[in-house]
Amino acid sequence: MTALRNDSVWQRLVAHSERLQGRRIEALFDADPARFERYSHRAGGVLLDYSKNLLDDAAREDLLALAESRDVAGWRERLFAGEHINNTEDRAVLHVALRQPGVSRPVDGYDAGEAVARELERMTAFAEAVRSGEATGISGRAFTDVVSIGIGGSDLGPRLIADVLAPWAAGGPRLHFVSNADGAEVATVLRGLDPETTLFVVASKSGGTRETLLNAETAIAWFGNGADRAEVLARHFAGVSASQDKLADLGIAAERRFRLWDWVGGRYSLWSAVSLPVMMHLGPSIFREFLAGGADMDRHFREAPAEENLPVLLALLNVWNTTAMGAASQAILPYDWRLRRLPDYLQQAEMESNGKRVTREGEPVSTHTGVVLWGRSGIDGQHAFYQFLHQGTQVVPADLICAVADEDDLPEHRRELLANCLAQSRAMMLGVDEETVRAELAADGISGDRLDLLAAHRVHEGNRPTNTLLLDRLDATGLGRLVALYEHRIFVEGVIWGINSFDQWGVQLGKTLAGELRGALQPGADAGTFDGSTTGLLGVIRGGG
Ligand code: F6P
Repeated sequence: MTALRNDSVWQRLVAHSERLQGRRIEALFDADPARFERYSHRAGGVLLDYSKNLLDDAAREDLLALAESRDVAGWRERLFAGEHINNTEDRAVLHVALRQPGVSRPVDGYDAGEAVARELERMTAFAEAVRSGEATGISGRAFTDVVSIGIGGSDLGPRLIADVLAPWAAGGPRLHFVSNADGAEVATVLRGLDPETTLFVVASKSGGTRETLLNAETAIAWFGNGADRAEVLARHFAGVSASQDKLADLGIAAERRFRLWDWVGGRYSLWSAVSLPVMMHLGPSIFREFLAGGADMDRHFREAPAEENLPVLLALLNVWNTTAMGAASQAILPYDWRLRRLPDYLQQAEMESNGKRVTREGEPVSTHTGVVLWGRSGIDGQHAFYQFLHQGTQVVPADLICAVADEDDLPEHRRELLANCLAQSRAMMLGVDEETVRAELAADGISGDRLDLLAAHRVHEGNRPTNTLLLDRLDATGLGRLVALYEHRIFVEGVIWGINSFDQWGVQLGKTLAGELRGALQPGADAGTFDGSTTGLLGVIRGGG
């Protein structure tokens, strides 16, 4: 594929970005009273308003042309067809199959759709047995608590689902998560639990992640020296992995081993048995609604023309704002407390997928790729980092996300969220100019040097691009749509940048080096040979601080 920098459509886009420097977003509205209608689209229950971007018709036309010149439609079909588009690991990328159990999807000589349906039935049966009290611990008591042990993609997604769908949780065990290697987390979680009534689900796509195995061993040890390890594992543990052998090595009973496949990337695995603890907590039918929401977005992504295709538009806008216009990061600002973990979840999804320095063909990339993605609940962010968004020297394009429906029957609160969400994107676009600031200060009786000083401090440049995503409802279907929307956005960005979004070689080096240092930290071990800084730090640690 042509390097992006050499793509003639890209070169036109760079020219557009230069042409638009100095133009104001609000002026684009003045010139086109129908801008909102022409720069917003709805798919299912999701409305994307991208009118508050510094983008005009000519630039948008070329952005859409870029999707064609980079063959987004072709890559999309390769994805859905189960081709091995993860070329460095020689794997298909078929997390979409997880959201349509039973729909035939031949891959690598078998039907992924059938395999997914079978596994979903097993998950459902086990989740129901736990919920009903039919599955019990060693003492015969029903499980009151389930602990998910996993990290990264085997943790962030299930946490997100559990938070968002909490209002629908009824009748299941309480849910807890342990991800960190710091013993403080596992100790804190276990402190409040009773071993007799606790079930652990160990989730690791690879089956070999050190942090997860360490936490699993600590959980096994928690049952005490007197407990029979095999019995503890058989009655109190289940496991999820693409490596059934590794689960067997850990000692997890065959009927409690759940399957992942190598065509599901870890950061795309929340649609799989990795979410088994969430299914136990919420109930299988809600989890299936979540899957159905994802499938709904898949259909839209596959069928809608680019100019109405929400994931394609979001990807093009992000490439526009970052690679063409030069923004270094993007903020995700959910105006919904239940979505407070969405920035964390998307941070892994975007940065592990698209933080790549070479193209699919192994050539150095010709432009920046990926984006520093960060954020937190918008309302809380307003009282933390919005100063930077409004008056900092860097432009941070932002996605503001909110739902119209109020699930808590607290309409005053919902109005507050919506008012702030709309106000912030408006403030980021409009800012406030010096003339207005001066008039306001003068009206307050301020004049002279004091007025000059305060005017300088009060000006907001504005012209900061935002997208607003308005969901009809943030229920299981709505969440499924939203997550799939961002997954596909990330995929389309990767296609445009010409990279493989589905490997993560950059995480390996640190893991290898941690192994060497783990050895050097063992009591009595040889200090080893490291760089000067590491040797110095090790010396302090080994000396006791
Ligand atoms: O180290 C990064 C990573 O490999 C992620 O890609 C993954 O989501 C996480 O670790 C956990 O991996 P696993 O599910 O194999 O334990």
